Amino acid sequence: MAVLSVLALALLSTGAAAKVCTNVTVPVDINARQGVFDVPVLQGNLDATTFAQNFTNIGRNFTDDALVDYQTVTGRYNISAKFCRPDQENGTNPTVQVLTHGIGFDKSYWDIPFNAYNYSYIDVAVDDYGFSTVSIDRFGIGNSSKGDPLNLIQAPAEVSALYEITKMLRAGTFPTVDTAFKKIVHVGHSFGSVQSYLLSALDPTATDGLVLTGWSLNATWLPLTLADWNVHLARLNQPLRFGNISTSAVQQAYSYLDSFGAGNTDLVEILDRALALVGIDISRQDIWEELATTEVGDIVNGVNETVTPIPQDLPTGYLTWVDFTANQFAFLLPGFYDLALGLFSERTKQPVTLGEIFTLGNGAPPTTPFSGPVQIVTGRQDVIYCGGDCLATGGVAESIPAMAQMAFPNASAFEAYIQPNTGHGINAHYNSTGAYHVIQQWLLSQGLGSS
Ligand SMILES: *[C@@H]1O[C@H](CO)[C@@H](O)[C@H](O)[C@H]1NC(C)=O
Ligand SMILES: *[C@@H]1O[C@H](CO)[C@@H](O)[C@H](O)[C@H]1NC(C)=O
Ligand SMILES: *[C@@H]1O[C@H](CO)[C@@H](O)[C@H](O)[C@H]1NC(C)=O
Ligand SMILES: *[C@@H]1O[C@H](CO)[C@@H](O)[C@H](O)[C@H]1NC(C)=O
Ligand SMILES: *[C@@H]1O[C@H](CO)[C@@H](O)[C@H](O)[C@H]1NC(C)=O
Ligand SMILES: *[C@@H]1O[C@H](CO)[C@@H](O)[C@H](O)[C@H]1NC(C)=O
Ligand SMILES: *[C@@H]1O[C@H](CO)[C@@H](O)[C@H](O)[C@H]1NC(C)=O
Ligand SMILES: *[C@@H]1O[C@H](CO)[C@@H](O)[C@H](O)[C@H]1NC(C)=O
Ligand SMILES: *[C@@H]1O[C@H](CO)[C@@H](O)[C@H](O)[C@H]1NC(C)=O
Ligand SMILES: *[C@@H]1O[C@H](CO)[C@@H](O)[C@H](O)[C@H]1NC(C)=O
Ligand SMILES: *[C@@H]1O[C@H](CO)[C@@H](O)[C@H](O)[C@H]1NC(C)=O
Ligand SMILES: *[C@@H]1O[C@H](CO)[C@@H](O)[C@H](O)[C@H]1NC(C)=O
Repeated sequence: MAVLSVLALALLSTGAAAKVCTNVTVPVDINARQGVFDVPVLQGNLDATTFAQNFTNIGRNFTDDALVDYQTVTGRYNISAKFCRPDQENGTNPTVQVLTHGIGFDKSYWDIPFNAYNYSYIDVAVDDYGFSTVSIDRFGIGNSSKGDPLNLIQAPAEVSALYEITKMLRAGTFPTVDTAFKKIVHVGHSFGSVQSYLLSALDPTATDGLVLTGWSLNATWLPLTLADWNVHLARLNQPLRFGNISTSAVQQAYSYLDSFGAGNTDLVEILDRALALVGIDISRQDIWEELATTEVGDIVNGVNETVTPIPQDLPTGYLTWVDFTANQFAFLLPGFYDLALGLFSERTKQPVTLGEIFTLGNGAPPTTPFSGPVQIVTGRQDVIYCGGDCLATGGVAESIPAMAQMAFPNASAFEAYIQPNTGHGINAHYNSTGAYHVIQQWLLSQGLGSS
């Protein structure tokens, strides 16, 4: 059943440990009770805007207006996962970290193929601290099964998938891995933290430790975020990845563009020449601005790549933020990230579903009975969960994330760590590995290291 392939070893510095990873497709049986929402099928970008207007209107609770019923969803779906472990396992009681990404990302959030992987969370956790990791594409996203973006792909169904993965790791039935893990830690980012929290409420025995990054309990700035995103249909925003354009059509467009560029695949060069032909004179700097920071860049994303991905033909209820300027506002702190990595994250971004937007901030129990240790790690300048400053509490608490302690009345330990000079997308900031070391050391201090 499992599709397995062994990854090459990651970078080695002399004598240091290196991770060994496998790609696995894991069939899971989902069973979740969740909302049935009634929203008209979005026909185009303006309907997505109407949805955002409905959702952010302070005079109504659109989640409640659209909620018509509840239903139990079941079915067997695929979760795409990557399992990593140290090449040299010294003990008999290894700890596995289950890594759940947030909106706009997939499992590669934890191991970004950029700058020789020097932003990799997995490299720090596995190579430097001896943990094993399982990073998953959430149900509905990336290479995991897709589904109805309104009434199937919602938080409860995704948590159900996470729960099934967790039970397999506990039982030693996770494909290609013969360890029955006694220590399982759940590490989330953003919506992945929401889901890790929900898992601990669903079954507090499922996890031995929670690390919730890019998160607080304060939902004040979710409407601000949705407004910033200016959501469009994913299939229109990046048609070559999310639409239904045929590969041959893309190749035709590519060779046509290529004729302008005379063998040059740089789109700035190609557009400069093409615009000159029709008498439009725009500076190269301005052309670069349009391609890099506006939706123009999203629309042509992939057109100049020699290997084009198979377009996913996503239903219109899969949305995405409009462009890289919206990306920076929500995820990145200017001056503290590499522009090339920011642009890479825009090119490789993943969509968000209507059902996820409805269930991101709604329906969570106010407390979890979980009785193990809890750590929150949020960037000081996080916009989505701190409005741009996690320390601006008006003196009522140490930080906005620290106020989430009330949700964990039975936790054996609680820490809210504020990572300096960092926005919401922790992994894209220069000092991301600084935060990753804080997390691993805290896990060791809680007796949750591999042994
Ligand atoms: C595993 O998947 C990653 C993408 O997530 C890909 O880059 C890599 O080549 C795959 N490895 C193998 C051996 O197929
Ligand atoms: C927005 O709200 C209006 C008024 O309730 C409703 O008629 C319409 O279907 C909603 N549209 C979307 C896309 O949410
Ligand atoms: C809005 O409605 C949803 C669904 O009924 C509910 O879970 C949520 O608590 C409501 N939000 C507020 C702020 O009342
Ligand atoms: C899951 O993946 C397998 C191949 O790995 C495929 O045969 C099966 O149809 C997939 N199931 C779903 C629900 O996509
Ligand atoms: C296992 O022990 C060797 C030798 O001491 C060490 O180099 C390696 O880093 C250890 N591996 C882990 C996962 O701790
Ligand atoms: C999904 O699969 C494709 C094709 O194998 C691969 O190029 C891509 O990196 C994968 N993405 C993820 C997030 O696994
Ligand atoms: C792409 O989707 C549109 C809208 O659903 C449809 O009209 C068109 O036939 C599709 N094109 C291809 C090549 O599948
Ligand atoms: C495609 O164009 C973009 C924007 O000019 C450029 O950054 C990228 O390197 C190009 N890709 C290829 C494969 O040439
Ligand atoms: C905390 O533990 C106590 C004693 O086991 C239990 O009664 C209580 O319900 C728990 N709190 C939560 C929020 O579950
Ligand atoms: C969210 O944080 C802001 C800023 O500190 C504060 O004014 C507000 O009361 C908080 N809301 C909740 C629900 O904690
Ligand atoms: C990765 O390397 C680049 C270039 O040396 C450096 O600017 C950046 O800070 C590094 N990032 C991390 C997370 O180590
Ligand atoms: C990087 O992060 C670590 C851990 O939070 C912190 O101690 C250090 O001061 C940070 N460095 C900079 C330059 O912000």
